[in-house]
Amino acid sequence: MRIDIISIFPEFFGVLDISLLGKARERGLIDLTVHNLRDFTHDRHRTVDDTPYGGGAGMVMKPEPWGDAFDAVLAESPSPVVVFPSPAGERFTQATARELALEPHLVFGCGRYEGIDQRVIAHTASRPGVRVREVSLGDYVLNGGEVAVMAMIEAIGRLVPGMVGNPQSLTEESHEDGLLEYPSYTKPATWRDLEVPPVLLSGNHGAIASWRHEQQVERTRRVRPDLLGE
Ligand code: ADE
Repeated sequence: MRIDIISIFPEFFGVLDISLLGKARERGLIDLTVHNLRDFTHDRHRTVDDTPYGGGAGMVMKPEPWGDAFDAVLAESPSPVVVFPSPAGERFTQATARELALEPHLVFGCGRYEGIDQRVIAHTASRPGVRVREVSLGDYVLNGGEVAVMAMIEAIGRLVPGMVGNPQSLTEESHEDGLLEYPSYTKPATWRDLEVPPVLLSGNHGAIASWRHEQQVERTRRVRPDLLGE
């Protein structure tokens, strides 16, 4: 999978070199390039923002550097999914991560300030072959898209085929089957007077599977009844 990120803070993404994603990059499963939006400005101050038409607080990201950045990034691979992180976007869920993990090329456009001039989103969506999604990490406002994109790339990257050694570990987690995951335990069987639930030591795989499912339903009902439609 190829991933391009356009941001005015390319240093943010240095952390993607470590951990699982770093290994995926070394192994060639993910080819990630970060582009500095300011490299696509043409003035001495490398300006990326301006005051909003119609008035109001804050600054809006100017369209010209974005247009030039997309011209450059899309020149070699013209049919990606372009994701604009935004609190005004559709909600990012495990289902979104699964869909995006199947794509050969993703481009993330990280906005700052009060957002990007909306014509950038419209123009990008009008490019032949490009599919655009405005995506929100959740119902809260971050200072910019960078942290949201980092979270999305971590959620998507681990679903890319070949990324995780044991693919079964992916299907037994929270949100994969619409339920939160069951609680996990490891050795020792007694720790500070706390026992591991005895069924897990029973060797009875059927009983263990039913217990885990009950735990999933109980936890989901208690913490996230919305997932059960309750
Ligand atoms: N940028 C600012 N807030 C955001 C959010 N909640 N999700 C995605 N991008 C954002």
